Amino acid sequence: MNLDQWEAKAKACKKCGLAAKRNHVVFGEGNASAPLVLVGEGPGEEEDRTGRPFVGRAGQLLDRALAEAGLDRTMVYICNTVKCRACDWDGEKASNRPPSAEETAACRRWLLPQLAAIRPEVLLCLGAPSARNLIHPDFKITRERGKYFPCEFARTAIATMHPAYILRNGGGGADGGYALLVADIARAWAAALQLRDGRAAVTMAEKEHTSDR
Ligand code: URA
Repeated sequence: MNLDQWEAKAKACKKCGLAAKRNHVVFGEGNASAPLVLVGEGPGEEEDRTGRPFVGRAGQLLDRALAEAGLDRTMVYICNTVKCRACDWDGEKASNRPPSAEETAACRRWLLPQLAAIRPEVLLCLGAPSARNLIHPDFKITRERGKYFPCEFARTAIATMHPAYILRNGGGGADGGYALLVADIARAWAAALQLRDGRAAVTMAEKEHTSDR
């Protein structure tokens, strides 16, 4: 199945309780053959309303960081670990909460084929929940941010601070860690291009070799 077919299937998903109250399944968007995929945690209110990833305040910060790293959304692919908004309900009032382990596990049925369809060179995990899902289960951003890891779903993976964390906590330095986010995006992109060009060179050499015979 291709990415569009996976998206169509995901949009009908009822495998966990988040399906009951969602407005949209936020599958992901961007360049489907991008060498770099950014994976966040899960949609918030704005994302649930619009069906698009990272369009609220955290998304605006992410857009700014992408631009400072010389990129925009058409050059990368952006998605989330969990595709539906996780929230607690008090009557009609919703408040965001982190997706549970069960919700996260259920959504791997969409995330993994999505990544397999895109086949990025580099995965950039935004925040610890994404890194724990895709790199290793004990991932600590404070200790392991900005390092390259082997990864089943790309040629390498790296994690950085979640833009919402930067907005919320002002952690990680005087600018709340924003400069680190920009630097990690730029490094991940440079690695993605290097790996893609290396792969292209290998493919060309293979072609030349086979056409010689
Ligand atoms: N936070 C996320 O992890 N993903 C979004 O799409 C928005 C906020």
